Amino acid sequence: MPKPTSTRRGSKSVALPKAILVLHGPNLNLLGSREPQHYGHASLEDINQMLKSRGEACGVSVECFQSNHEGVLIDRVQQARHDGVDFILINPAGYTHTSIALRDALAATGIPFVEVHLSNVHAREPFRHHSYFSDLALGVIAGLGAQGYELALEFALRHLHVKVTSHGSQKTEKTH
Ligand code: DQA
Repeated sequence: MPKPTSTRRGSKSVALPKAILVLHGPNLNLLGSREPQHYGHASLEDINQMLKSRGEACGVSVECFQSNHEGVLIDRVQQARHDGVDFILINPAGYTHTSIALRDALAATGIPFVEVHLSNVHAREPFRHHSYFSDLALGVIAGLGAQGYELALEFALRHLHVKVTSHGSQKTEKTH
């Protein structure tokens, strides 16, 4: 069940801040040094910091989580439902091409998500052309490097009706 977008404290209705979860799959902890010809020079920490500060400027909580273990990622997706996460950005990395179980976890939560890949998986080996996630995702970004995460976050903010002004401040346009 999705979390309510507002709650009552005393007689006042208080809007809850939107929450976005960024999930990074196996080997993405090595970004910066790992095959930079495919994945660029930004470290995972650089990417996470960029996303968190953008979220902060918009009054949105951005939590980032990386694991090399399929079950741990599945547990985190299941937990997201209880935590009231509104949107997920996920780079399933190698699990993109193998994990029905992680796909099932995302399907079970029903939380909208965007699939992100640093490299253009379609221009690489044939085994990278198939994703177990793309048909469930609202959209897929591949081949734009670290900027792909930034663009995915902007999409999520808009999807969640977070109105970003030119000064970077925001308000939530509507709550249901
Ligand atoms: C990746 C592409 C995958 O094929 C690969 O296994 C990764 C990273 C990307 O971001 O380009 O680990 O998801």
